Amino acid sequence: MSASSQVPEKAPRPDFIRVEDFSFHYGEKQAIFGIDMAIPENEITALIGPSGCGKSTLLRNMNRMNDLIDGVRHEGDIRLDGVSLYDPSVEVISLRKRVGMVFQKYNPFAKSIYENVVFSLRVAGRNGKRELDETVERALRDSALWDEVKDRLHDSAFGLSGGQQQRLCIARAIANRPEILLMDEPCAALDPLATLKIEELITTLKNRYTIVIVTHNMEQATRCSDRTAFLYMGKLIEYGKTVQIFENPKQEQTESYITGRFS
Ligand SMILES: Nc1ncnc2c1ncn2[C@@H]1O[C@H](COP(=O)(O)OP(=O)(O)O)[C@@H](O)[C@H]1O
Ligand SMILES: [Mg+2]
Repeated sequence: MSASSQVPEKAPRPDFIRVEDFSFHYGEKQAIFGIDMAIPENEITALIGPSGCGKSTLLRNMNRMNDLIDGVRHEGDIRLDGVSLYDPSVEVISLRKRVGMVFQKYNPFAKSIYENVVFSLRVAGRNGKRELDETVERALRDSALWDEVKDRLHDSAFGLSGGQQQRLCIARAIANRPEILLMDEPCAALDPLATLKIEELITTLKNRYTIVIVTHNMEQATRCSDRTAFLYMGKLIEYGKTVQIFENPKQEQTESYITGRFS
């Protein structure tokens, strides 16, 4: 038996991402009100709720994307593995390496498939052919795209279908092995078949990544998430195992929303 096989596997951390009494304001407009939630490692957590309830705002704060907007401020904290994202020791560039993001509208760069995947490595000055080649194959395999594109890696990304372009964006996001993958309605611009393919992919990724996904599609939340958080008007109304939220919601507002009876 090798030494490594005797080392017990590290148990997933139950509060890998910890949102603590977190509020967020765009100037005068308060978008998030005192949210507390613990997001477990290697699980898929869905954020659901009506348009404008603060899903994207909360998600984008998890890698400090909202810092880029003028006049924003927050109260409370978000911790990754115990360390505040706002700790002076945290550099935003390294934070974004740990926390990758995929957006609603697939947005590959005007480059080849290959160069899209290795983009973040090149930015970091990593240009060794062997590392780049290996990264391209691994990331494209992990994003269920390799077999479809392996013979045309140097063709433009824009020649791919919408679903393939979104999988390429996922490959680009995981090329540098982040710990967390944030996805903001990643299937909103895709047809049902491409959507199913992405959902399947997301499910296979959770062994390696902690995934937080915003969706307004409740079937999607039930199909691919372990936990669901229901937000309404900037507040966290209910958060729990996805099965419980959909089959036995404790809050009336959650029930109204998931049964489509929302006023
Ligand atoms: N850049 C911004 N400036 C001002 N208000 C914003 C900005 N982005 C979002 N908001 C407001 O914050 C609230 C939450 O928005 P958002 O997080 O995008 O909701 P969701 O993703 O659930 O649809 C909404 O009222 C929205 O109008
Ligand atoms: Mg949104």
